[in-house]
Amino acid sequence: MDRVQVDRVSKRYVLGEQRNLRESLAAAVRQHRQERRELWSLRDVDLTVGDGEAVGFVGRNGAGKSTLLKILMRITTPTRGEARMRGRVAGLLEVGTGFHPELTGRENVFLNAAVLGMSRADTVRRFDEIVDFSGVEQFLDTPVKRYSSGMYLRLAFAVAAHLEPDVLVVDEVLAVGDAEFQRKCMNRMSEAGAEGRTVIFVSHDLAALSRLCSRAVWLEAGVIRDDGPTASIVRGYLTSGFAGSTANAPRGGSAAGHILQVRVEPLDGSSRPLFRDEPIRIVVQFEVLEERLGLDVAVSLTNHRGIGVLDETLSHVQTNQFPVGKHEVALEVPPVLAHGDYTIGVWLGTPHEDVQHERSVLRFTLHGEESVQRDRVVVLGLPFRVRQLDGEPSS
Ligand SMILES: Nc1ncnc2c1ncn2[C@@H]1O[C@H](COP(=O)(O)OP(=O)(O)OP(=O)(O)O)[C@@H](O)[C@H]1O
Ligand SMILES: [Mg+2]
Repeated sequence: MDRVQVDRVSKRYVLGEQRNLRESLAAAVRQHRQERRELWSLRDVDLTVGDGEAVGFVGRNGAGKSTLLKILMRITTPTRGEARMRGRVAGLLEVGTGFHPELTGRENVFLNAAVLGMSRADTVRRFDEIVDFSGVEQFLDTPVKRYSSGMYLRLAFAVAAHLEPDVLVVDEVLAVGDAEFQRKCMNRMSEAGAEGRTVIFVSHDLAALSRLCSRAVWLEAGVIRDDGPTASIVRGYLTSGFAGSTANAPRGGSAAGHILQVRVEPLDGSSRPLFRDEPIRIVVQFEVLEERLGLDVAVSLTNHRGIGVLDETLSHVQTNQFPVGKHEVALEVPPVLAHGDYTIGVWLGTPHEDVQHERSVLRFTLHGEESVQRDRVVVLGLPFRVRQLDGEPSS
């Protein structure tokens, strides 16, 4: 029996409308035409997922993974086509966990259960398990709007995973939890799979995805590029040059200028996967439309737990003046970072003006030994000094 049926689903977003008067004027002065760009985030996607299958979705940033999950969860509607899921569906996406901010944790558990169609008796039976898993017992009678994002996530996952859904849909939000909670969630999802539930999982953590899912679907630029056994899909994906990620023309900027491109690559400039024991280069290209005194660039990196691991500002190291035109700055990062997923932020501005500030313009993965603990920020491999304090001197 099919649990998930996706028929020729397409999703269009409209981008690039001038957002405010100042930008419109600036554009008119520059005689740029008013652009209205369309972006097809998904194009004619066909997919069926059978009962009890665990399917992982891979694909580079912007490939359409979250869009597909949002359509499945009915958070957004497809522009064309149709998507259906049968049975009780629970999910955890970047947005719309289905919690009501004013209600307490306890009330939200019951509300979610009711929405899923669970009886009150069934919910009561499951309640202690949910609370226990979430670890937010002391805050059960606090409105969830006062929860930290970690607490919120814990409860949301506990609810989604314990309300006996037929289909469990999880977008990589788990990355904001701590390492121990991530492990618990992965175990819970494997159990759900073992209990015969259908699991739909999106992650850039390919090792976790490989453990959980026997089948993987590779999305690229809104279309299904490949679909099959996880090991072969992941191999194809990794060798396809996905890791030399590029973000082109992130929306934003001001009359003074804008970012053209941000990319991350190994030092040889190729588009192969990035590994934690090699240096990487972050390249920012931007265009100056009006010269500004003291125009400066900063690049930051945030790890998968939201910890800022690096924030470098050009003027702290060297002085530069950027005339009108296109420029490129490149930052070389030595191989000191732990493996995992990272988010690049870029700031372009002066002490008086943010020209463009992109907190997460691009995400990438540093591959490494998965057995090495994920909760480290840096791996330096520092030398120890070893001395024997008694007996025979060591040679
Ligand atoms: N609300 C929106 N308005 C406009 N464009 C959007 C919107 N949501 C997504 N997009 C665009 O749709 C495309 C697909 O985005 P989506 O979030 O599905 O990618 P993804 O595969 O989940 O990427 P990531 O790995 O970064 O999470 C992107 O180009 C994105 O910019
Ligand atoms: Mg996404």
